[in-house]
Amino acid sequence: MLKPWFALCALFLTLGAIAEPSPRQMALFNNNCVQCHLRPGVGAPLVGKAQDWQTRKAQGEDALLRHVVEGLKGMPPLGYCSACSEADFRALIRFMAGMPAGTGQ
Ligand code: HEC
Repeated sequence: MLKPWFALCALFLTLGAIAEPSPRQMALFNNNCVQCHLRPGVGAPLVGKAQDWQTRKAQGEDALLRHVVEGLKGMPPLGYCSACSEADFRALIRFMAGMPAGTGQ
């Protein structure tokens, strides 16, 4: 399963300084979120695809966080990540949606 890694490397290059999750948070992302959020066709907004996130981002980070924790239609509660803390989810949401790092907490 090397493919997601290549995609992620490409993402890091393109997203650059937008948001920088820690290596531990990236591992959580790889183990839990990638299967849906890097796969076109499952209805999940794709990581790094700005148009998928435009209206979602407009809800604000707290609303996004609530939808991750509680689930939203095809989005399972906690995104299957029982090991993720609130700070982890916030970092991953900012990373996925291309929001600036270090705003808020
Ligand atoms: C089983 C597939 C699946 C997994 C695993 C998954 N997601 Fe999702 N996610 C979805 C789908 C589908 C949507 C779109 C839901 C909708 O609006 O219809 C979504 C939406 C979202 C949204 C946008 C919510 C909003 O308010 O619009 C965020 C943020 C998100 N996911 C984060 C994550 C994170 C972080 C993880 C890993 C911890 C994760 N997802 C794991 C399928 C998944």
